[in-house]
Amino acid sequence: MKNKIKSVKGTYDLLPFEIHKWQEIENKLKKIFSLYNFREIRTPIFEKSKLFSRSVGEFTDIVNKEMYSFLDKGKESLTLRPELTASVVRSYIEHNFQQISPIHKIWYYGPLFRQEKPQAGRYRQFYQFGSEIFGSAYPESDVELIDLAYTIYTKLGLKNFTLYINSLGNKENRSKYIELLKSELLPHKNEMCDNCKNRYENNVLRLFDCKNKICKNIMNEHAPLIIDYLTNEEKDYFNEIKELLENLNIKYKVDPTMVRGLDYYTNMIFEIRSESLGSQDALCGGGRYDNLVEDLGGKSTSAVGFAAGMERLMIAMEKENLFDDELNKLDIYVAIMNENVRNESMKIVKNIRSNNFSVDTDFQRRSVKAMMREANRKKAKFSIVIGENEIQSGEIKIKTMSDGSENTVKIDEISEFLSQNIL
Ligand code: HAM
Repeated sequence: MKNKIKSVKGTYDLLPFEIHKWQEIENKLKKIFSLYNFREIRTPIFEKSKLFSRSVGEFTDIVNKEMYSFLDKGKESLTLRPELTASVVRSYIEHNFQQISPIHKIWYYGPLFRQEKPQAGRYRQFYQFGSEIFGSAYPESDVELIDLAYTIYTKLGLKNFTLYINSLGNKENRSKYIELLKSELLPHKNEMCDNCKNRYENNVLRLFDCKNKICKNIMNEHAPLIIDYLTNEEKDYFNEIKELLENLNIKYKVDPTMVRGLDYYTNMIFEIRSESLGSQDALCGGGRYDNLVEDLGGKSTSAVGFAAGMERLMIAMEKENLFDDELNKLDIYVAIMNENVRNESMKIVKNIRSNNFSVDTDFQRRSVKAMMREANRKKAKFSIVIGENEIQSGEIKIKTMSDGSENTVKIDEISEFLSQNIL
């Protein structure tokens, strides 16, 4: 036997017997995005590497450690996209979106790549859906977006989740705060873990995310919180967001230690975390990023967005028992008794399908008993066994699989029977 080739670490196959759950969610997402009048964008899987270093930030974990980058024919550095906001902004600038309309509401869905340490809810290829609003500097757009994310989880039936919000202020104010944070933490730098010692130099805000007990204690005792250093204007903006959320009955908690792992944010940031998940509990995250369009060479444009992990959503929905097995059920299984009736039976199968019922049949010429086992395994709602008698009489018994009861109907009227008996 030759060696088997396995899938790459941190990647997974979406198998034919589970894909229906993903498709069900994908369809619902599309509907919800269109309720909010967002339009879809599809950008390439790879982009120039500098797009991400200039937007997500050179010293972030994503850019520093996790990007899948390669030289294109030995020349230009390209990267498999680790997130989608930068790509959408690149496209927004490249295609002069602002000339088409002052406001753009855009959604996306697709695979992303980060070379993270795989664990439950964290993969190296994972799927995100998300959305971005360009062109509004008002808190209604922040709330439109939070409401959209919140509504998605509510409509999908999730119960155990909480919205957290914070404000990082604008860039100028933040750099003053960062100086203060550094000077308060300097006396404790030597006690920190090695990772935090590095972060202290290049990305000090991320010290808030360290799970190490000693670092956590240092932060709890000595780190000033950015929310206490916002300007009056930033405070007012944040308060307006809170009021608008309350107005829509959207419950939130302020998490003053939340910083998010990407550099482009300004002012409001948020995350929705699930209590049904383990340590990777962020269902989605996002915030305002008013400088990014300009930083990437476009005209100054306010923007706000969020992105959400599909895998974490699926895990949370499984944990909360939200998948309805009914959706996976086959309408009718057709057992074909022998070769004499195969041709007629295939016509009957085709005919029922043409009336929009899902039908499956046997492809291995097995015994009727084996076929009925298959019907059960496939969770068929009904089944029929076609033999010579049935073809001759033109009548057939339709078995209801849930209780074993049978109804005799004309073969020509199978679809009619199904339409009367399937909701
Ligand atoms: P992010 O927080 O890096 O933000 O990712 C958003 C969501 O993607 C996370 O909350 C999580 O659900 C999922 N996610 C991230 N990494 C992984 C992974 N390795 N495996 C599985 N799921 C993962 C962004 O990507 C920003 N672009 C969001 C944004 C949009 N901000 C403004 N606009």
